[in-house]
Amino acid sequence: ITCPSPEIRNGEVAEGQSAVYRAGANVTFQCHPGHVLQGSREAECQPDGRWVPAVPACQPVLECPSPPNIDKGNHNSQDLEVFTPGMVVNYSCDPGYRLLGEASIYCSDSGNWSLPLPRCAGGCGAPPNLTFAELTEEYKNRMEFPVGDTVRYSCRPGYVRHPGVSRTLTCLKNHTWSEALAFCKSE
Ligand SMILES: *[C@@H]1O[C@H](CO)[C@@H](O)[C@H](O)[C@H]1NC(C)=O
Ligand SMILES: *[C@@H]1O[C@H](CO)[C@@H](O)[C@H](O)[C@H]1NC(C)=O
Ligand SMILES: *[C@@H]1O[C@H](CO)[C@@H](O)[C@H](O)[C@H]1NC(C)=O
Ligand SMILES: *[C@@H]1O[C@H](CO)[C@@H](O)[C@H](O)[C@H]1NC(C)=O
Ligand SMILES: *[C@@H]1O[C@H](CO)[C@@H](O)[C@H](O)[C@H]1NC(C)=O
Repeated sequence: ITCPSPEIRNGEVAEGQSAVYRAGANVTFQCHPGHVLQGSREAECQPDGRWVPAVPACQPVLECPSPPNIDKGNHNSQDLEVFTPGMVVNYSCDPGYRLLGEASIYCSDSGNWSLPLPRCAGGCGAPPNLTFAELTEEYKNRMEFPVGDTVRYSCRPGYVRHPGVSRTLTCLKNHTWSEALAFCKSE
């Protein structure tokens, strides 16, 4: 009676290797680097031709790659080298840039990072809310404005135009809106 040569993926027979395995033969297994043994390290060839306990498996150690870099931003785990499932990293943006999307991503059980990645946007976010004026329709509900863009306001009920004062704001190079002058005044 012989047992089949024990085949272990991502690993090898460490001790007891032989051309023919007869009943009573013992082997031990070891995994290739980056893999962990699942099952028994040892097995014995049984009189019925089976290995007992069953030949183990070598599973890759699950890790996520380094978290992706994003333009104009960084994540807060630069010094870590190993990222395992469940770990969370948080992104933030360079000064003057705004983070769009979720700041956090996590390492999934399948060894990849959750998506989507956040994004760091230049330009300006939504223009300021003013007590005396509101954005005209075309600029409402927009969250991103490139540098140099201009938005226009109209006076709220109870306010009238202050002649000669511009009703527009401009997205400046430093990603802030130009100062809102009092272009509407109380009636
Ligand atoms: C194989 O291992 C078993 C259990 O550990 C032991 O009883 C047996 O003597 C070993 N066989 C050989 C040939 O070393
Ligand atoms: C990431 O942010 C979450 C939620 O804000 C926080 O609980 C967690 O501690 C942060 N993780 C790191 C590594 O800073
Ligand atoms: C992560 O990997 C799994 C298995 O390879 C795949 O099905 C899934 O789509 C991947 N998810 C992402 C966010 O890439
Ligand atoms: C301005 O007002 C809108 C709606 O009233 C609100 O959703 C938004 O958060 C406000 N923005 C600021 C900067 O206060
Ligand atoms: C942005 O630039 C304008 C004009 O140069 C300046 O008045 C304002 O203080 C700056 N804002 C910030 C936050 O640096």
